[in-house]
Amino acid sequence: MEFTPEIKKATQPIYQKISKTIPEIEWSIHAPYIYEINKLKKKKNAVILAHNYQTPEIYHGISDFSADSLALAVEAAKTRADIIVMCGVHFMAETAKLMSPNKKVLLPDMMAGCSLSSSITGEDVKELKKQNPGVPVVSYVNTSADVKAETDVCCTSANAVKIVNSLGVKKVIFLPDDYLAKYVASQTDVEIISWKGTCEVHEKFNDAEINEIRKNNPGIKVIAHPECPPEVINASDFTGSTSGMIKYVKDNQPEKVMMVTECSMSDNVQVDNPNVKFIRPCNLCPHMKRITLPKILDCLKNETNEILMSDEIIEKARKSVERMAEIGR
Ligand code: 13P
Ligand code: SF4
Repeated sequence: MEFTPEIKKATQPIYQKISKTIPEIEWSIHAPYIYEINKLKKKKNAVILAHNYQTPEIYHGISDFSADSLALAVEAAKTRADIIVMCGVHFMAETAKLMSPNKKVLLPDMMAGCSLSSSITGEDVKELKKQNPGVPVVSYVNTSADVKAETDVCCTSANAVKIVNSLGVKKVIFLPDDYLAKYVASQTDVEIISWKGTCEVHEKFNDAEINEIRKNNPGIKVIAHPECPPEVINASDFTGSTSGMIKYVKDNQPEKVMMVTECSMSDNVQVDNPNVKFIRPCNLCPHMKRITLPKILDCLKNETNEILMSDEIIEKARKSVERMAEIGR
């Protein structure tokens, strides 16, 4: 696509915002897509929801709403748009469909999965329930709709402890992230039965790396996502969902910060916090990175890659997400 003077002028305000993150030569490739997508989404009454791990040209260039998984689910329920384009991974698009079953939900790349979500099936949950009769199931939103359909209540990293405590029981089955389960167990008296799922991005971090960075950067604040291994959480100053981490930086304006999570977050947050120096450990989520501007334009133009599920699964799975939203309210 051609980077015409008209496109250059129309996209200039966006580029001014992110020019420190994206070199001019790269912008000339992104800008024509950004221009077309922004025009088309208005014409089609589409909304673009983007997870915090999307690249800066998506996060700052075309998204109408960027957030963590919890806020994306809430926004999907509220939107008046006819089409939702989910710039995130498959379970996020499925969750959007559960919350807005009458809307057309599109995912620019159907292969954008998640190692947590693929670690467990609905059948596995049925088996766990058989082994632990009467014990409620709390599932992380990073699960398929089939798993959610077998779940009593969903949670995200932002509200996991609150959800577990709200049930008023002695024991819960908590799926599928073993590290998040350990984090929740450290914050509650409820006994946790966990599953052996891990996030392939966050499990790569370790405390030795953090200690080394602290040694070389005195005074640095280290903030970690709860999908990290326990030793990383213990070595950090703050733990929170992706939006919780962004809020920490915004509110505290640390001189230096290391966000122990997916790389693109630091790029995105840097734009709105120019006085904070980001020390970037770089682990990319290969699934999130499948979403690109050309794929977004293609799926919006042709309305391809629609998320479809049976009414039965939608009904059952939606209840677990709605229950989460009710408890959160
Ligand atoms: P958040 O809910 O914190 O945005 O996390 C989702 C995710 O996939 C993190 O790896
Ligand atoms: Fe899944 Fe981890 Fe990627 Fe998040 S970062 S989508 S948990 S694989």
